[in-house]
Formats: sequence, C-alpha cells, structure tokens
Amino acid sequence: MFLKNAWYVAAWDNELVGDRLLARRLLGTNLVFYRGENGRAVVMEDRCCHRHAPLSHGQREGNCLRCMYHGLLFDASGRCVEVPGQERISDKLRVRNFPLVERDHLLWIWMGDPALADPATIPDTHWHDTPGWQAERGGYIHYESNVNLIVDNLLDFSHLAFVHNKSIGTRKQGGVKPEVDFLDESVQVRFTTLEGAPPPFARQLSKLPDVVDRFNYYVWNIRGNYFAQDSVIGPVGEGYGTESPLAMKLHTFIALTPEDADSTHYFWSTSHNDFASDIPDVTRQLTVQVAGAFEEDRDIIEAQQKSISVSPGEPMIAIAADGTLLRVRRMLDGMLAAEQPQGAGKPAVVTITPVSVQPTVVH
Ligand code: FES
Ligand SMILES: [Fe+2]
Repeated sequence: MFLKNAWYVAAWDNELVGDRLLARRLLGTNLVFYRGENGRAVVMEDRCCHRHAPLSHGQREGNCLRCMYHGLLFDASGRCVEVPGQERISDKLRVRNFPLVERDHLLWIWMGDPALADPATIPDTHWHDTPGWQAERGGYIHYESNVNLIVDNLLDFSHLAFVHNKSIGTRKQGGVKPEVDFLDESVQVRFTTLEGAPPPFARQLSKLPDVVDRFNYYVWNIRGNYFAQDSVIGPVGEGYGTESPLAMKLHTFIALTPEDADSTHYFWSTSHNDFASDIPDVTRQLTVQVAGAFEEDRDIIEAQQKSISVSPGEPMIAIAADGTLLRVRRMLDGMLAAEQPQGAGKPAVVTITPVSVQPTVVH
C-alpha cells in the first residue's frame, strides 16, 4: 500500500533528547527511536525478538537499548549483545533496524531495500539554518486521514479561496489556472495571482500595499510525499525575483509520512526572509498563522475522510481542477507497481475513479 523505497521524514531532531525513547508507527510498522550516548539517532522495530514486548518500554543504556521484560540488550544495529544469565548469544537474536539520517534538524528514515538507501537523494531543507532566513522548527500535525487525501489538497490550490479565505487565501485564487510540469517522479506547479489583495496573514504581518502580486511555486515529490514551496508576495510588477524590502518570501516544506491506511504524520515548517514588518516576534506570529491555516485543511480533510469511510467505493466525479491530482495518482500507481516483487499481485491503491477530465497542463 505504501512506497517503501523512499526517504520519509520520521521525526524532528529535538524529539530525541537525553535518553528519551520515541515510539512512532510509520508505514504500518511500530518503531522505536532513540539517541545513543554518542549522539547518533537510531531506529528499530518496536518489538523485542524474544517475546515481542515493545522496546519503547525499555531503556537506553549507552548506545544500546535494553528490553525491560527479560533484559535482553540490543546494540544500535539491532544485534543482541547481552542475555542475562546466558553466555552464548544466537545470531538469530536480532531486531530489525533501518537506515536513519539526521539532516537540517530532520530525521529521515528508509524502510525499503537498505541497499537502495542513498542519502544524496534526501530533499534539501537547508532553510532551517541559512543566514537571512528565520524559521520555527517542530511543526507537526497528526491527521486522521489517508495520506492521499492530503496530497490531493496540496496539489490543488484552488481550495485556498474557500478553505483559507480568512487566513492565507483570497477569493481571487479560486479562478487561477496553475502552470503544471510533470517530471519523472515529481510535479512542479506555479500558481500566480497578479494584482490581488494580500492574504489576511500578509496584511497583518507586513507593510505590503493593498494590491500585490503573489507567486506560489512548488514541487511535489511523489517518492517520499515531500512538498517544497517558494512563495513570494510582493509589489505589483516586480515579479517573482523582486528585491523589494517589502516583499514577503517564504519557503515551506511539508512532509507526509503515512502512519497507517487512515492516519498520517504531517511535518512542516515555514521559513521567511527579513521582510519589512512592525511585528517584533514576526517568526512566531507567522508560524501561528500558517499553523492555523493548516488546521483549516485538517478540519475539511478529516471530515472528508469520515464521509468516505461511511460509504466506501462510492464514485467521485472529477472536475477540471482535479487533472493534476489524478495524474499524480496514476504516477504513484506506476511507482507502487514497479516496487512489487515480480509475480506479486497488483498493490492496493486508493484511487479516484477517473472521469472524462484531461489533466490541466499549461506550459
Ligand atoms: S520480551 Fe524482551 S527480553 Fe523478553
Ligand atoms: Fe490548504
């Protein structure tokens, strides 16, 4: 059901402090995370290989993790290195662990074939530590919904005009046709609104004039469910590359990591430039505003999930704006099928019944 050969965000780095054990379910598997005394973050399956007690009920010892049922001790590779009262330790006493990379304050996990785990393919999130950019890290939302409903939402910004008309959206955005380019495993979307009112959050935080140009350019990486957006709200006529000190420039990432079929982890941050503002704690206020907007998404998407769950299988009738998300679903279907071992049956994928709508592609 989920793509396994992908880097997924598993946690923020500050979720692993001291000897804390973090239990989290990802892609339908219970995991336990901890940071060894050497500072290295480790993840293992949250199930002792002896009698299946959760290792998250255990304790960290140095760089190892001890199961606190019968006391087996596992090193960071998952190998058992101590059995109380027993000298010989079988090679079979081993807990599965996974590649885990810490980068730019995020922990990235690879739950597929470890031989394919190349850290060079982890998405860029350097904005968290770049001069000239400010960000509050740690954004997290737990969603009671299938991951694909959230993906649909991120691929169709026409919802800004309705879901977010009191926060980050404006009515004018409802009629905007995005420019969309499909690459091998990603989609680039450029959503431009010229000569419109600034959205409510920009009005509150910046000194922008009453009429602005707004650019939302983003990439959706299908492998790993990673959304990276550069957006600019600036004076009219100056374009995406405006150098105006009034211009509000934002870099937002959202990483969606399925917990199960009907629940999802949503990690995010919004970094901003030093735009002109009278608000002293502008980073905090911006974070509050964006978090509020993301709650607006969650409200409608969780309600949508409930509606789908009470009558599963009912067809959805597509409109023109669904072109991008329908094509992305087909790309995902293809990637899932390619990941199945030869001879395996078709993967179970949540798919919208395609109706007679062609993808909206504007070059
Ligand atoms: S269940 Fe873990 S040591 Fe027995
Ligand atoms: Fe939204």
